[in-house]
Amino acid sequence: MKLWGGRFEAETDQLVEEYTSSIGFDQRLYKYDIQGSIAHVKMLAECGILTYEERDQIIAGLEEILEEIEAGDFEFEIGLEDIHMNIEQRLIDKIGSVGGKLHTARSRNDQVALDMRLYLRDQIEAIQALIEKLQQVLLELAEENIDIIMPGYTHLQRAQPVRVAHHLLAYYYKLKRDYDRLEDVYKRTNVLPLGAGALAGTTFDIDRQFVADELGFDGVSQNSLDTVSDRDFVIEFLAASSTLMMHLSRFSEELVLWTSQEFDFVDIDDAFCTGSSIMPQKKNPDVPELIRGKTGRIYGHLMQLLTVMKGLPLAYNKDMQEDKEGLFDTVDTLKGALELFARMLAKTSFNQIKLEATAEDGFTNATEVADYLVEQGLPFREAHEVVGKTVLYCINEDKKLSELELEEWQNFSDRFSDDIYQKIDIETAVDARDSVGGPAKEEIKRAITAEKKECQ
Ligand code: ARG
Repeated sequence: MKLWGGRFEAETDQLVEEYTSSIGFDQRLYKYDIQGSIAHVKMLAECGILTYEERDQIIAGLEEILEEIEAGDFEFEIGLEDIHMNIEQRLIDKIGSVGGKLHTARSRNDQVALDMRLYLRDQIEAIQALIEKLQQVLLELAEENIDIIMPGYTHLQRAQPVRVAHHLLAYYYKLKRDYDRLEDVYKRTNVLPLGAGALAGTTFDIDRQFVADELGFDGVSQNSLDTVSDRDFVIEFLAASSTLMMHLSRFSEELVLWTSQEFDFVDIDDAFCTGSSIMPQKKNPDVPELIRGKTGRIYGHLMQLLTVMKGLPLAYNKDMQEDKEGLFDTVDTLKGALELFARMLAKTSFNQIKLEATAEDGFTNATEVADYLVEQGLPFREAHEVVGKTVLYCINEDKKLSELELEEWQNFSDRFSDDIYQKIDIETAVDARDSVGGPAKEEIKRAITAEKKECQ
């Protein structure tokens, strides 16, 4: 017998049952479904819709069901379609017809919206905690490597020298915004949908605020049609997750590049790499590669749900059952990536000799030379031209700027004198960039101290 069987004369086709059932994946919501139901019956009793005795019987039954599920003793049935009806049917089997009173003044439409919000709330908090862990690793790594200078790039061409710590902090701040975006999603997720009923509220004199307080929601939703047709909070979460994953993917891409023999900037610990089945010399950066690769599925889930929702008339439509698998996969993928990334990064070392040799090569101090001429009174555009010619000369002569004799400098401008050598020293060049947010050691130290304080 189906919970909704009264109106039907024929049995559901077996294939239809399998096709429409969501129990295979929505069983993940069991804890929230039970938590929501308990709050609901408490309210029903407070409002005089159920007796306190009925309430206690139902709560005791639900608590036993929770234990059964956690012990692995619960048999989920496809014929009961979803987690909501699997639990409700089990309750009726256990405590008899009083179990049938649980669904008073409620629909699966507001129930599923509630479960999803309760689930997502928890997951947002768990993901935020993982972001914080990764940020912590970044701060520590920045501090440990503050002395190492590396080339900064634009167009993947060596541009100006920075510090490794500066590069690491760049990701720290991206993650900080990701954290804030999730905080914002949380605010809109943390609104109680229960009480919207199937679409048009309920005739019972319920107390929605009571349920909101019971479950820790900031407020109650204000339009029943909106409430049961809304999956914005999931879409927003998927969008924030996509952005977060995009950041991890860019960082991963850099690690893949940097571990190549061509760059040789970093070494990822053996524990986080894998070998080749045929080439004995290989040590492959599989972890960052996979994180980069898994970014695609999260973008996919965002597009999938946007597409599911775009043509739906109000209010609930069965299409909306398709909101779950993508969300669950996003949560799993994100958590896996964040956790692994933090652990891998903590065990990643920087090749100071190679990084600094590269930073000194490729004329990354050419801007310093132009700035030098500007300090001697030359307009910047003219200085740019002079230094361009000097660099061209160096390329033809196969020399670094620091290897030029003073007479060679003076062939390009008589404004050059001996102090040019100090000006173009890489460390001097980096530490002179001490404007707010710059790569100078003092500025980085200030940033690390400020962020550490905020994290406490
Ligand atoms: N399993 C359904 C879902 O996830 C629950 C809501 C079903 N509501 C309904 N009217 N069929 O969307």
